[in-house]
Amino acid sequence: MVVLGIESTAHTASVGIVDERAKVVALASDMHRPAQGGIHPREAANHHVEVLPGLVRRALEDGRVRPSEVDAVAFAQGPGLGPCLRAGATVARMLAMAWQRPLVPVNHCVAHVEIARVLSGLDDPILLYASGGNTQVIAHARGRYRVLGETLDIGIGNFLDKLWIALGGTFPGGPELEREAREGTELHPLPYSVHGMDIAFSGMMTAALALRTKGVSRPDLAYSVEVTAYGMLTEITERALAHLRGVSVVLGGGVACNERLRGMVRTMVEERGGTMFAPPRSLCVDNGAMIAWTGHLAHRAGIAVAVEASAVEPRQRTDHVATPWRPAGPRGPTLPAAAAAAG
Ligand code: ATP
Ligand code: FE2
Repeated sequence: MVVLGIESTAHTASVGIVDERAKVVALASDMHRPAQGGIHPREAANHHVEVLPGLVRRALEDGRVRPSEVDAVAFAQGPGLGPCLRAGATVARMLAMAWQRPLVPVNHCVAHVEIARVLSGLDDPILLYASGGNTQVIAHARGRYRVLGETLDIGIGNFLDKLWIALGGTFPGGPELEREAREGTELHPLPYSVHGMDIAFSGMMTAALALRTKGVSRPDLAYSVEVTAYGMLTEITERALAHLRGVSVVLGGGVACNERLRGMVRTMVEERGGTMFAPPRSLCVDNGAMIAWTGHLAHRAGIAVAVEASAVEPRQRTDHVATPWRPAGPRGPTLPAAAAAAG
């Protein structure tokens, strides 16, 4: 049994085929890279419309899968850029109709979390989801993923990308900044903005650009930004572990590719006697396999949507969607009644 999943929420169009044991049978991706500046939604959507039919064909060929062997078609319903989401959803609807298979809507954030969780083999980890548009510490409770802490302004990946572009680079900035940071030696103080369980990055952006105009080298700046920003993420993840008496942490999202972030979280978790897991890079960044795998979970739990009712939801949050494939979990009953009543 395989599910075909389509990802198109932002810069990357991707088609994944995954079997019922979470084995990635095929993955075909194509990222839109603007010549300069950030992502323009319409241009990214045009890119996805152009490449998706070829990616579907390539995934089926690479995986030696016949359309008749596909059990369901899953697509990323949100959150994301409206035009990009619609490009992927349109292809998914057409495939579901042509192949007469169920159409399964998937939340993009939950998909980052679920692929990381299944690969980790950990049953109930705390999740640090660090990507372009999102930065959240997540735990499962009472039938859905709950956001325990998150960014108050922009996602960490968008912060790194914008900073890198302002320093003269091109999108995506995260990987380049990581390379540059390896050469850095001097740590310059930057605003460390942790507010309870939440964090913010805009103050650091302003301060980092000011340091650059004062002559701080790009490697030192990149190093200082990474240490400060990833320190903030590590702190709120540790606080979540302490509150929930958790023992394991799983990383997800594109920024989870970063070696320094992986190392800092690993050290923190292992010093507490726990386990840290991060997926391979191809499954941290946006990919169709995570949509296909979450599509499996949802399909098995009876989730499907009629084509007429399959509108995309650009603002759909991690905690907006139910996860009937997971038991409510031990954390449910221990929460106060008022919180439970709030949904
Ligand atoms: P979201 O999941 O919030 O919708 P997204 O879909 O834009 O975000 P992902 O593909 O999950 O993004 O992540 C892309 C982000 O990851 C980009 O901002 C990119 O700069 C960042 N990134 C990728 N590799 C690295 C790295 N090695 N170090 C730091 N950041 C990285
Ligand atoms: Fe993503």
